[in-house]
Amino acid sequence: MKDKETIFSGMRPTGRMHIGHYFGALKNWVELQEKYHCIFGITDWHALTTSFEDTTQLEDNIMEMAADWLAVGIDPEKCILILQSWVPEHAELHLLFSMITPVGWLERNPVLKEQLQDMGLKEAVGYGHLGYPVLMASDILIYKATKVPVGEDQVPHIELTREIARRFNYLYGEVFPEPQALLTEVPRILGIDGRKMSKSLNNYVGLSEPPEEVRRKILSMFTDPEKIRLSDPGHPEQCNVFSFHRLLANPRLLDIEKDCRGGKWGCVSCKEELSELMIDYLEKIVPYREKYRGKKHLVKEILWEGSKKARQLAQATLEEAKGAMKLNYDGFKS
Ligand code: AMP
Ligand code: TRP
Repeated sequence: MKDKETIFSGMRPTGRMHIGHYFGALKNWVELQEKYHCIFGITDWHALTTSFEDTTQLEDNIMEMAADWLAVGIDPEKCILILQSWVPEHAELHLLFSMITPVGWLERNPVLKEQLQDMGLKEAVGYGHLGYPVLMASDILIYKATKVPVGEDQVPHIELTREIARRFNYLYGEVFPEPQALLTEVPRILGIDGRKMSKSLNNYVGLSEPPEEVRRKILSMFTDPEKIRLSDPGHPEQCNVFSFHRLLANPRLLDIEKDCRGGKWGCVSCKEELSELMIDYLEKIVPYREKYRGKKHLVKEILWEGSKKARQLAQATLEEAKGAMKLNYDGFKS
């Protein structure tokens, strides 16, 4: 494991995946597994921090998420896939980190503040929810990962991970690296209404959405507000539809840009062309998805085998951390 750097990233199994997840993070993972030791986790405990009341969908969500990952090219031969709760060492390291993390750091977390506002939860933040970034730090640091490929919204969490690593190393000696976030070229994918694409805002295009839905959603996308008529000069650099043409590597990109600016290309045609491109792009995933859909046993087997491998790595780091904290009590094991 010494020759290449280690990467960790995860996603919460809170529902079906959308193209924001894909273009903002997952597509990057597929490329990274060729060059790094990658460990990717379905973080079911993180899902519980906000959705603990009704857990009936959790297992299905995990299975759907794993099927999506495998369908887009995450390859268990090239990386390690885990289910977080099947690697309980994450929880033990989280407990140790919780001792050295001041509550003030967690209360200042801008991601938490935004979530509380969105959920109208001001006073009722749970203990586990407050500690969300501490659990994330243990996910990452238990593998001594140095890079974390995520969307822009996760960057404050990675910064906290670095602070926790720094604090641990200062208190007990150098054990953990200080990992960096790895962003894609478009770290913040916007939804059909121009706000960040997210499930809770219902402004997303799903990764396995039927073609007619993809078309309907793309045709309702916001475009450049200054371009009302076809002949108005457009501003592609500010238009979300144009950014998707770029993401999908439309070979006509330069023509679209020129004709939009020149008032020779209208937004409706632009969206129609995009919806065809997107449908083709997503349809390539479908056959792979079918291979895993409904095959819970196969998917669980992949996650179980990956979690087993990960546990060996996690146990080694945990021992080292406990040793540094003088918690190994002369190597006596119960
Ligand atoms: P979440 O659904 O919040 O657990 O997100 C899983 C991963 O996808 C994280 O790395 C997010 O940063 C990324 N992600 C989710 N939505 C978007 C978006 N609209 N743009 C870019 N990345 C995103
Ligand atoms: N918080 C991440 C998200 O919502 C998911 C996650 C959990 C994660 N643990 C992680 C991401 C560790 C990167 C590294 O997307």
